[in-house]
Amino acid sequence: MRVLIAYATKYGTTETIAGRVRDRLPGQVDLVNLKMSPDPPVEQYDVVLVGGSIYAGRIRPEVMKFCERHQEALTATRVGVFISCLYDAEQGGDQIGANFPGWLLTHAFGRYNVGGAVQFSRLRLVDRIIMQKVAKVSSDLSDISESEIDRIIADVTSITGAA
Ligand SMILES: Cc1cc2nc3c(=O)[nH]c(=O)nc-3n(C[C@H](O)[C@H](O)[C@H](O)COP(=O)(O)O)c2cc1C
Repeated sequence: MRVLIAYATKYGTTETIAGRVRDRLPGQVDLVNLKMSPDPPVEQYDVVLVGGSIYAGRIRPEVMKFCERHQEALTATRVGVFISCLYDAEQGGDQIGANFPGWLLTHAFGRYNVGGAVQFSRLRLVDRIIMQKVAKVSSDLSDISESEIDRIIADVTSITGAA
């Protein structure tokens, strides 16, 4: 069984989370940054996890483009969708619903909000201003959801049949 984790990130949190998921899954698990490799060979995988971070309510554009371009291959395999964000479960759920195409949400075996993090000092000026003015945040934040990562691991291992 082969697993693909296809992700998009702005500052690296989604990549860190994707790496943690990979490290906990048995078998071959390939991580692909969609900004560097927008067209991984989806048809070669038994399970695909696709996701990215949310900015101003929108997922990274590479994720949308990947889903559109690979609709046929994605519908032919098992897919889980995830977002990295800082909103709570309810708003996070809304953001998942708003950021993946309907056909994929219907097809997906799971939807996951893995939480997120911000390293304030690393933000570009415009993002720093948005965080300060809109979110009233001006220091580092980390709220990665271990329970959602656990849920991904449980769901994927139940599909791949591994313990
Ligand atoms: C400028 C800015 C805007 C953001 N907008 C949202 C948002 O609309 N909704 C949300 O839940 N999180 C929002 N976040 C939080 C990010 O989604 C979160 O920090 C995520 O983990 C970043 O992942 P990345 O480093 O992989 O890009 C925002 C963060 C920044 C810096």
